[in-house]
Amino acid sequence: MEAVMPDPDGLNGVTLLPALPGEALHTRVARTLRDAVTRGVLSEGSRLPGHRRLAAALGVSRNTVVDAVAGLEAEGYLRVQGRSGTVVGVPAMHASVAAPDAPLPLSAWATRALAGGLFDAGGDYAVDFRVGQPVPELYPEAAWTAALARQAGRAVQSHGAFDPLGPLETRRALAAYLNAERGARVTPEMVMLTGGTQSALDALARVFLEPGRVAAVEDPTYPGARAALAATGAAVRAVAVDDCGLRPGALPPQATVLYLTPGCQYPTTVALPAARRAELIAWARHGNAFILEDDYAADLHHTARPPSVMQGLAPDRVILLGSFSKSLAPVTRSGFLVAPPPVVRVLAGTRPLTDRAPGTLDALALADVLASGAYARHLRRVRQVIAHRQEVLLAALAAGLPEWQAQPARSGLHLYARLPPGLPEQQVLRHAARQGVALTPVAPLAAGVHPPAMLLAFAHLTPETIRAGVRRLT
Ligand SMILES: Cc1ncc(COP(=O)(O)O)c(C=O)c1O
Repeated sequence: MEAVMPDPDGLNGVTLLPALPGEALHTRVARTLRDAVTRGVLSEGSRLPGHRRLAAALGVSRNTVVDAVAGLEAEGYLRVQGRSGTVVGVPAMHASVAAPDAPLPLSAWATRALAGGLFDAGGDYAVDFRVGQPVPELYPEAAWTAALARQAGRAVQSHGAFDPLGPLETRRALAAYLNAERGARVTPEMVMLTGGTQSALDALARVFLEPGRVAAVEDPTYPGARAALAATGAAVRAVAVDDCGLRPGALPPQATVLYLTPGCQYPTTVALPAARRAELIAWARHGNAFILEDDYAADLHHTARPPSVMQGLAPDRVILLGSFSKSLAPVTRSGFLVAPPPVVRVLAGTRPLTDRAPGTLDALALADVLASGAYARHLRRVRQVIAHRQEVLLAALAAGLPEWQAQPARSGLHLYARLPPGLPEQQVLRHAARQGVALTPVAPLAAGVHPPAMLLAFAHLTPETIRAGVRRLT
């Protein structure tokens, strides 16, 4: 191609971009030229002036230009073209060019995953009772920071020699904790650390589900679980819950997995009675199915401990899922699953293809706060605060909205309130929004018909804000 000179000084008015902190001069020159090329100010095939003239135009030394041009040649932005000198080697990449001009060739998984749309988090409200909000004020900042600092050196020392299940000492600490506190039957070999419950669900969904298989969920249920299971292409059957939780008789016989929240049904907060637990375990054994037990609220019980986990009754059929998202902070992305050894072996074998292993530093810090008693102390404090906040909310609702049937939750960060007959959720939401209050409706969490109800998260709000919020609703 014939090289064209862009303009008399050869630079089309390009001037040196402002320096970035600590940036070497030749890097800044290279960034300036790269930027001019990608924006099309220096177009493909146009010839750059000689090094000396370029240096003079940019106000830098010739050596600086030599270094910068050599780097851009190595990257392919510039190309040496025989006697013509240095020419621009790539076409411009305008912003509009950066977006492909055809629809993305998405996989069926991506299409299904995007259709699963999770929580609505937008809007600006004076009082926001919606679920899923972090409680930064209750985060054990000092204990967590100290644990991270103590463990940082050790995490670095591991030099990437990691176990896909997570460090053994963390799995030991978790096994001890779950056996003592949750009535689980766990050995460290049955534990895999995860990036929270969502990542556990994703890993399990990928190894157990595919188009043509069936997954069962409670109805209503946690949308994050339903979406992860549905994204595999499996059919997701929603089984209605009543005032005691899931009705085992309504389960599809052929499901491969059942996602269940027996300790504190999400979102209705009821605990599943022992007889139904036994029936579900028999159902799983009979159909070679696995129960994915999400124990999301257990550590945050307010008064009495929730019932022991189902995993303790049937370690062969129940996969226990736990998360520190609610009891520490969602940003830790720290959780675990407990599964029968053959399932753990499969997960350990497939994990190297995805995120390889959990973050070692967070895992060691978790073992530290568990073993030192800091986590237990933190929970004692948090439980008192959230129990009090729920009492305040229940009292405010009893006084201001007695027709809402608010159910006291035994654990967790929200309560469930059934609306009076004939009052649609949408009407309540519209009225609340006009008053600057946001709530979570239950209908979007249900596949079938569920009586109109609202979820009110309280743990992240001070007692004054809770009272003010309920006043606005009355
Ligand atoms: C029912 C339920 N399970 C699990 C989780 C935690 O998910 P993760 O550990 O991915 O943050 C939540 C958090 O909102 C939840 O509501």
